[in-house]
Amino acid sequence: MKLWGGRFTKPTNELVDEYTASIYFDKKLAKYDIQGSLAHVEMLNVCGIISKEDADKITEGLKKVAAKIESGEAELSAESEDIHMNVEKLLIEEVGPVGGKLHTGRSRNDQVALDMRLYLRVALVDLISLLGKVQESLLNQAKANLDTVMPGYTHLQRAQPVLFGHHMSAYVFMFQRDVERLQDSFKRVNKSPLGAGALAGTTFPIDREFVAERLGFDGICENSLDAVSDRDFVVEFLANASLISTHLSRLCEEMVQWSSAEFNFIELDDEFTTGSSMMPQKKNPDVAELVRGKTGRVYGHLMGMLTTLKGLPLAYNKDMQEDKEGMFDTVETLKGALALFAPMIESMQVKKENMHQAVKEDFSNATDLADYLVGKGMPFRESHAVVGQVVLHCINQGQYLLDLSLEEFQSFSNLIEEDIFNALTPETVVNARNVAGGTAKNRVEEQIEKASAYLKENKEWIEDKETIIQA
Ligand code: ARG
Repeated sequence: MKLWGGRFTKPTNELVDEYTASIYFDKKLAKYDIQGSLAHVEMLNVCGIISKEDADKITEGLKKVAAKIESGEAELSAESEDIHMNVEKLLIEEVGPVGGKLHTGRSRNDQVALDMRLYLRVALVDLISLLGKVQESLLNQAKANLDTVMPGYTHLQRAQPVLFGHHMSAYVFMFQRDVERLQDSFKRVNKSPLGAGALAGTTFPIDREFVAERLGFDGICENSLDAVSDRDFVVEFLANASLISTHLSRLCEEMVQWSSAEFNFIELDDEFTTGSSMMPQKKNPDVAELVRGKTGRVYGHLMGMLTTLKGLPLAYNKDMQEDKEGMFDTVETLKGALALFAPMIESMQVKKENMHQAVKEDFSNATDLADYLVGKGMPFRESHAVVGQVVLHCINQGQYLLDLSLEEFQSFSNLIEEDIFNALTPETVVNARNVAGGTAKNRVEEQIEKASAYLKENKEWIEDKETIIQA
């Protein structure tokens, strides 16, 4: 007999049980479901809705159910549809009919919204902590490469030299925005929908604030209809996750390029690469490729969730059961990628010499020659044209700027003097970009300092939240 079987004259078709069940995936919520129920039953007693004796029995029973689910001893069935009804059924088996008092003043609609929020806030803290480790590994590479000059690119054409440390710290700031977005979303996740009932509230004199406080929420969802209909927090998470995936994917792409023979800028550690079943010489950046590839499923989950919600009338609709798998998969996908990323970056070997060589073998100091002429009084537009001529001359001769003699330089402009040779070295060129946020060594050091301060704040945020989210 179903928990809700009273008004039915026939059992549910087995195919319907199978089709509508969510237990196959929402069993992940078991821990949170029981966490919520423990707070709910305590409140029912405090508000005089059930006796202390009953509340104690239910509490004990719930703890036993939790242990049995955790150990795998409890049997979860599609017939009981979802984790909420499975837990309730197991509770009644454990403590008898008194277990049936747990669901007083509550619906699965507010219950499932609660479980989703309890799950997600833990996931947010975990992800922020994993992002922190990735940021740290990038920052360590940045610190180790404050003298490593590499070509900076636009259009994937060599543009102006930059420090590899500057390039690494760019990603630290990208991930910092991700951290801040997740932290901001935490505020909206951390509100309690419990007490909204099926949609309209409940006739029992419950205390929603009590439950919210017990569970470490910052407050309650103010409108019962909204409380059970809202899955914005899931969409928001998936959107934030999509951007994290974008950032990871861009870095992956660079790692794939840099580790190719064509670039030869880095070598990924053997531990984080794989071989080919046919070609004995191969060392493939599989991890970076797969992280890049998994971006697709994360974007897909975002589109899926938005589409599921579009056009749903208030309040709860069964469609909303589709909120779970995409969210779980996204959390797992990101956790997997981030956990691998930190050691992969930390252990990557940076081929400083090759980077440096690449800078010498190109015209990425051309802007500096133009700027040099500006310094001697020539309008920039004019100097741009002059340097264009110099570059063309060099290309025709198979030379680079620093291969020219002073006489050759002067044949293009007599403003050029002996000091040009120093002005065009990679180190001078890099350190000349001495503007806040620029690639000069001291500016990159400044960025590293700022980033380190952010990382410290992130850690404090995590410590603060960890105390409230423990299930
Ligand atoms: N398994 C359902 C879900 O995940 C729980 C809520 C069901 N409520 C209902 N009235 N059918 O959305």
